[in-house]
Amino acid sequence: MAKRGQITSHEPTDFGDRDFPAALVNVTNVCNLECTHCFVFRDDNPNSAHDKMNDATMLHQLEALRDKHNIRSMLFMGGEPMIRKGLVFEAMKLFEHATIATNGTYGIPSVPGHVVSVSLDGPKHLNDPIRGEGVFDKVKASIHDRDLSDGTVVMLQMAITRDNAAGIEEFVEAVKDWPIAGVAFTFYVPPLNDTSGQGWDNLTERDSVVDRVLALKDKYLLLIKANRGALGMMKSDVSLNYTGEEGENCLMRNLLPLYMGDGPDGKGAFERTFCCYGNDVDCARCGAYAVFNAAYKKERPRPQAGDVD
Ligand SMILES: C[S@@+](CC[C@H](N)C(=O)[O-])C[C@H]1O[C@@H](n2cnc3c(N)ncnc32)[C@H](O)[C@@H]1O
Ligand code: SF4
Ligand code: SF4
Repeated sequence: MAKRGQITSHEPTDFGDRDFPAALVNVTNVCNLECTHCFVFRDDNPNSAHDKMNDATMLHQLEALRDKHNIRSMLFMGGEPMIRKGLVFEAMKLFEHATIATNGTYGIPSVPGHVVSVSLDGPKHLNDPIRGEGVFDKVKASIHDRDLSDGTVVMLQMAITRDNAAGIEEFVEAVKDWPIAGVAFTFYVPPLNDTSGQGWDNLTERDSVVDRVLALKDKYLLLIKANRGALGMMKSDVSLNYTGEEGENCLMRNLLPLYMGDGPDGKGAFERTFCCYGNDVDCARCGAYAVFNAAYKKERPRPQAGDVD
C-alpha cells in the first residue's frame, strides 16, 4: 500500500505507443522459495532481489502505463507477489481484470471476483524437491484455511517438467476434492542451451505427456482447465507453427512483460523482457500453455464442450 509521505520518483520507461490489452508485472524480485525450474531468476533477466521502486511510484507508473497502452488485464507476479500484498491489492483496483500468481505459502489472498493461481508442481513427493521441503502441506493448509465463501476464484497450476511429469495423474487425484475452481497445467519453458535436464530434448517425448493431460481432461472435464484444441497444438508436429524458432509466431509477445530493473538512478525501473518468460528462452521448445491457448482461441470456429478461457 502507498505509504503516507512516499513520493513518486519518476515516470515509467518508454515502451512505445502501441496498445497492450494484457500485461504482467513483477511487483517484487524477492521470493521465499528457490524453485528448480524458475525462469525469473535466470541470469539474463532484470531480477536483482532488492525492491527499489516504492509503492507510490509503482502505483503511479502502472496507472500511467495502463492509460498509455490501454492495458485492461494485469497479471501480478514476482518473485512472490504476496510479499507486497498491500501494494498488489491497491494496484489491482487500477485494472478491469486482475489475476495473482502466487506460491501460496503466505496464505491465499481474498480478492472477490478475481482469480488467484496457486502454484504446486505435483503431489508432495514430486512438488517438494522442486518447490522446497514442506511447501505442499503449507499450500494445502492455505487452500483449506481460507474463507471459502469470499468469492475468490482459486486455481492450482502445475508446471510440468521431466522431473514431475510422472505425477500428473496422482496430483489430480490428490487435489480433486480440494476447494478449488480447477487445475491448470503448463509445460516447462527452457532457456537456450538448457542443461538442467528438466526439459524434453525431443518434443515427441513431450507428446506422450500432452496425451496424458488430454486423458485427464476427458476424465475430469470441468476440473481440468485446458482446451483440448490448445493441447493438440502443443504436439511436436505442429507446435512450431504457434511458437516459431524465435518467437516469431507467438501471440504471447502481444503481452507487455514488466520486469523490475535497477533503473539509472538505482530507484527501480520497469524493463520489457523478450517475453513474459524473460530474456533467455528457447521458443522452439516452449511449453507455455497460454501460447497455444491464445492461438487456439484465435483459430477456433466455435467453443467446444469443456473449453475454458
Ligand atoms: C514465476 S512464478 C511467479 C509467481 C509465484 N512466485 C509462483 O510461484 O506462482 C509464476 C509461474 O511460473 C511457473 N514457472 C516458473 N518457471 C517456469 C518455467 N521455466 N516454465 C514454465 N513455468 C514456469 C511457476 O511454476 C508459476 O506457476
Ligand atoms: S515461488 Fe515462483 S518466483 Fe519464487 S522461485 Fe518459485 S516459481 Fe520462481
Ligand atoms: S518462450 Fe514461449 S512465450 Fe516466450 S516468446 Fe517464445 S514461444 Fe512465446
